Amino acid sequence: MIHMMWLTLVVLAGLIVPSTYFTQQEVDIHAPYVTTPSPVVDAMLELARTRKNDVVYDLGCGDGRIVIAAAKHYGARGVGVDIDPERIHEARANAKREGVESLVRFSAQNVFDMDFREATLVTMYLLPDMHRKLSPRLQRDLKPGARIVTHTFDLGAWKPHQSRNINGEQIFLWRVGTQRQ
Ligand SMILES: C[S@@+](CC[C@H](N)C(=O)[O-])C[C@H]1O[C@@H](n2cnc3c(N)ncnc32)[C@H](O)[C@@H]1O
Repeated sequence: MIHMMWLTLVVLAGLIVPSTYFTQQEVDIHAPYVTTPSPVVDAMLELARTRKNDVVYDLGCGDGRIVIAAAKHYGARGVGVDIDPERIHEARANAKREGVESLVRFSAQNVFDMDFREATLVTMYLLPDMHRKLSPRLQRDLKPGARIVTHTFDLGAWKPHQSRNINGEQIFLWRVGTQRQ
C-alpha cells in the first residue's frame, strides 16, 4: 500500500515537473510527508548498530521519530531537519514528551543547504532523485566509518553494504570509506 502510494507520487512528480527543473532548481525538490513505521525505525537503528556516542542526522525528519528513537533507546545525540516548519514544531513537542529534549535538536531547513559533516549516522526517507543528488555529498563530507541508512529508496549507483526487508519495506545500509562486502 505504502509502496503504491510512493510509486504514484514519484510518477506524478515526473509527469508534472519538466526534466530541466531538477538540475536548475534542486533546492525546490520536496518529498511528501510519509512516516516510517515504528518497527522499521527500530530496524534502521539496529542495522546501523547505533551507539551512545553517535550523532544521528535525519534528513527530512518529519515528526522527529528517528532521532527521538535513537536518543531514547541508545542515548545518541540527534539532529533533525525538515523543510516544513510544522513538522519541526511537532518534532520538538514529541522530543519533549519523550524526555529527550537535551539530546536532540530540530531545525527548519532544506537538506540541500545543510552541513551534516558532524553526523556519524545519517538516515533518509526522501525521493529517489533527492537520495541520488545527496549521495556524492554524503560520500565526500561524512567521516570514514559514518553510516547511512535509507528507507525504501537506495542511493543510485552507490551499492549498499546491506539491506533488509521489514514487513515488506526495504531498508539499506552504507558505511563511508569502506568497500562493499
Ligand atoms: C517521507 S517523509 C520522512 C519523515 C521521517 N524521516 C520518517 O522517516 O518518518 C519526508 C520528509 O522530508 C521532508 N522534506 C522534503 N523535502 C525536503 C527538503 N528539500 N529539505 C528538508 N526536508 C524535506 C518532508 O517535509 C517530510 O517531512
